[in-house]
Amino acid sequence: FIYDNSKQGSIAIAKTIAALIKAKEQENKPCVLGLATGSSPKQLYAELVRMHREEGLSFKHVTTFNLDEYYPIDADALQSYKRFMHTNLFNHIDILPQNIHIPDGSIPKDQVKAHCVAYEAAIEAAGGIDLQVLGIGNNGHIGFNEPGSNLFSKTRLITLDNSTRLANSFEFTSVSQVPRLAITMGISTILKARKIILMAWGPLKAPVVQMAAEGAVTDHVPASLLQHHDDVSFFMDTAAATEL
Ligand code: GLP
Repeated sequence: FIYDNSKQGSIAIAKTIAALIKAKEQENKPCVLGLATGSSPKQLYAELVRMHREEGLSFKHVTTFNLDEYYPIDADALQSYKRFMHTNLFNHIDILPQNIHIPDGSIPKDQVKAHCVAYEAAIEAAGGIDLQVLGIGNNGHIGFNEPGSNLFSKTRLITLDNSTRLANSFEFTSVSQVPRLAITMGISTILKARKIILMAWGPLKAPVVQMAAEGAVTDHVPASLLQHHDDVSFFMDTAAATEL
C-alpha cells in the first residue's frame, strides 16, 4: 500500500488496528498486538492516541508485546524502548499495565535466557499475536534480527551490527554509548503472528524495501523472510516505494 506521505500511511494502519480491536471486542476476545519502536511508528502511535481521546477507542482489552529492547539498559534510561513506548503511547491510553510486555533490558545476564523463554511463553499464553507491526532497518533487520538471523530464531540476546549502532547513535551521546547487545523477538516469533504490517517511510528505505519485497528470500535481508508469511502487508510512502 503506497501513500502520498507517512502521515496518511500511519492513519491507514491506525484504522486497521482500531478495526481489529473492535472486532475482537465483539467476539469477547482480547486483542494481542505486537509493537515496534524507532521513528517509523511515531505517527501511528500519535494517531492511536488521538483515536482514544477523540473517538473513544479503548485499549482495555488490548495486550501488547514489544519486539525488542537494548541490552543492557536501565528501564528508565532516555533511550530505552520501554520509555519510548510509555512516552509515545502507553501513558496516553487506557491500556492496563499488566497487559504491557516489553523485553527487560535491565535484568542480570544470567537471567536473560530464562526471560526470553518466558517471553515466548507469555505470547503463547495470550493466544498468539493477532497483528504484528514492524519497521525495517536500513540493513533489512526487523525487530533487532540482524542479517544472519535465521527463520527458526526465537526471542534471544543478539549482538547489534555496527551499522545499526551507528544508525541509532543519534539517540545517544556517542556511538560508543549505544549498547552492543539487544533482546529481540526472533524471526519465527514474528512469523507466528496472524497478520503482519511493515511500515517504511522516506527515500533511505527504498533499496531495502525493494530487496525485502522483491528480492531473494535470504537471511542476509531478514525482512525478506517475511515472504514466507501469507498475510503480510507493506505500508509505504511514495519515497520508500521508488525502487519497486
Ligand atoms: C531500530 C529498531 C527496529 C526498527 C528499525 C528502524 O533499530 N530496533 O525495530 O524497525 O531500527 O528504525 P526507524 O523506524 O527509526 O527507521
